[in-house]
Amino acid sequence: ATHKILLLPGDGIGPEVAAEAKKVLKLFEEAGYGSFETETDLVGGAAIDAHGKPVTDAAVALAKDADAVLFGAVGGPKWDKVAYEIRPEAGLLRLRKDLGLFANLRPAICYGALAEASSLKRDLVEDLDILIVRELTGGVYFGEPKEIVTLESGEKRAVDTQIYTTGEIDRIARVAFDLARTRRNKVSSAEKRNVMKSGVLWNQVVTAIHAKDYADVELEHVLADNCAMQLVRKPKQYDVIVCDNLFGDILSDVAAMLTGSLGMLPSASLGAPDAAGRRASLYEPVHGSAPDIAGQGLANPLAMIGSVAMALRYSLGLGEAADKLEAAIGSVLASGARTRDIAPAGANAIGTGEMGDAVVAALKPL
Ligand code: NAI
Ligand code: MG
Repeated sequence: ATHKILLLPGDGIGPEVAAEAKKVLKLFEEAGYGSFETETDLVGGAAIDAHGKPVTDAAVALAKDADAVLFGAVGGPKWDKVAYEIRPEAGLLRLRKDLGLFANLRPAICYGALAEASSLKRDLVEDLDILIVRELTGGVYFGEPKEIVTLESGEKRAVDTQIYTTGEIDRIARVAFDLARTRRNKVSSAEKRNVMKSGVLWNQVVTAIHAKDYADVELEHVLADNCAMQLVRKPKQYDVIVCDNLFGDILSDVAAMLTGSLGMLPSASLGAPDAAGRRASLYEPVHGSAPDIAGQGLANPLAMIGSVAMALRYSLGLGEAADKLEAAIGSVLASGARTRDIAPAGANAIGTGEMGDAVVAALKPL
């Protein structure tokens, strides 16, 4: 099979970690997992410098055509003063919008060897593997009206509007149920039905499609604030957590701290499947362009490499390759290899390229 990949390395450490992702793809190609046709284009500050905007129409077209987009990171002090509409982040926002990426997948995986880096005790997080499915294009971040108005009294009033339609809830819930079937078969749906109408509707829609199409999957409803508490108290009770945009933003950051470093966190964003079952998708590390360490070969490439694993699993039909890649990351960490961000103070650290090489070596023989 031929896999069309669009690589958008971006700025700062983006290109450094993207180079390690390429090493991994090359190895899978050599091992017979198909041919990876990789195109590379500019995004973020790099695209602003070259084209005056953070993503070109041509790059968006390539992204739509690709089986998966691998995105590094964008931004940096050099572009802090460009107009708001063309700031580096606007490139990522346009890609999300034009590709219709409504489902954001944030795994929180705690490799046993890194359990000490967690904010929690080792036994609570060792070998943790949960997945937060966040609705990404609706809810209070986008609902209208959204404004600050001055009242007659002179007081000001800020308004944000939380809106969800049954269709929006239905499609994100289906993503969560489908993913749960490939994992431990459990979905926890988090909302605040006790105080929010959108929570009531969320609960009703999730319950209805569960009964209709996913009765084989275990479903529980949890209030979002309780979910935050449970994530810190006993995170291994969860498998897949599905929630709206706002709660997902918060819960995924809580879950991130269970696993240690920002340099370890991958993510995926998926669009709706077309008639042929293909969905647009973009895979990226959660971290940004890390200007403080850019250009020094210090960045941890494992968030980016973990994002490649997600692309293999969710967009390229190579779940077995993804399992092997994640196992390789685990064994490299178990061997004691650490980039600076995950090394204990005073311990020896390796660089970006060495970590990528270590993962490639651990994958062999494929
Ligand atoms: P950041 O994630 O770039 O860095 C935060 C801290 O974590 C820094 O100390 C950095 O050195 C460290 N860090 C991040 N990734 C690392 C890695 N792979 N290995 C080792 N250490 C790592 O967030 P920050 O500093 O708030 O933002 C820097 C720039 O990145 C800004 O321009 C921001 O707008 C942009 N940004 C872009 C994102 C994206 O492209 N999706 C997401 C977040 C921020
Ligand atoms: Mg956040």
